[in-house]
Amino acid sequence: MNRLQKLLLLSAPRLSLSAIPPSCFLHRRAFSTSATDAVNKSRNSTLSSLNENEIAKFSAIADTWWHSDGPFKPLHQMNPTRLAFIRSTLCRHFSKDPGSVRPLEGLRLIDVGCGGGLLSEPLARMGATVTGIDAVDKNVKIARLHADMDPVTSTIEYHCITAEKLVDKGRTFDAVLSLEVIEHVANPAEFCNSLSALTVPNGATIVSTVNRTMRAYASNIVLAEYILHWLPKGTHQWSSFVTPEELTMTLKRASVDVKEMAGFVYDPITGRWLLSDDISVNFIAYGTKRNDLGDI
Ligand SMILES: C[S@@+](CC[C@H](N)C(=O)[O-])C[C@H]1O[C@@H](n2cnc3c(N)ncnc32)[C@H](O)[C@@H]1O
Repeated sequence: MNRLQKLLLLSAPRLSLSAIPPSCFLHRRAFSTSATDAVNKSRNSTLSSLNENEIAKFSAIADTWWHSDGPFKPLHQMNPTRLAFIRSTLCRHFSKDPGSVRPLEGLRLIDVGCGGGLLSEPLARMGATVTGIDAVDKNVKIARLHADMDPVTSTIEYHCITAEKLVDKGRTFDAVLSLEVIEHVANPAEFCNSLSALTVPNGATIVSTVNRTMRAYASNIVLAEYILHWLPKGTHQWSSFVTPEELTMTLKRASVDVKEMAGFVYDPITGRWLLSDDISVNFIAYGTKRNDLGDI
């Protein structure tokens, strides 16, 4: 039994990570940069996170963001579950009342890789001041049009820009969220450096992705793309999935300490996603930005 499995047995439904697992299964993707590199590169980002193939894929289906039965159906279905995790971790982190109507009032959040704004909009409804950024111009235009239909969400600031370019502009936020994006970027380590640099010291960073396991291959590629046709074929590359150990280590190197993880598990009977301690397929991690490197 490995260290992660032991941790899973000890904690439910959320995995509290008080220590970084020693095992880090380094992969062909760029997960490794030194702490010094992280600081230097986050100050002056040079490597692009853009993977042109991925950008083309998202551009081709940009019109369908708000079709709840379209290619983004799984994200629509997962939204209430991931928002529950975000709401509770951010309220705890910032000492806010999760029972209030606008629990995130007063917080400046950024949704990195916002797509059509599926996450940005409910965050704005929870009272946060939201910025959404995406590398695909069409996504940002769809997000803008949709958000403008409601005065509350019309306050969202959307930009077509990458995280590293926004770092270069010196922008920072109380909390940085990037859901289902890291598996589509060119360089995950650099991407994490940018997420960290966008987070104020002692702020919160939340990342979700897909674990690189055989179960994830079977469910998120074979089943979702080839059998159920929930997603266009080729949406995911198994080799680009990110293990919890890799994410934890990469964020740690970028000065973000992962404090909690939770899995998302699909219940085929109700058609709903549930928060779980099973992080073997879809999972989300919440971390805090260390203050030890100063305000970068
Ligand atoms: C699977 S979607 C997730 C959308 C949104 N985060 C959500 O969960 O509803 C991935 C998004 O990341 C965007 N993306 C991919 N690479 C990016 C990059 N390097 N910088 C910013 N956005 C990127 C894509 O255009 C797409 O909108």
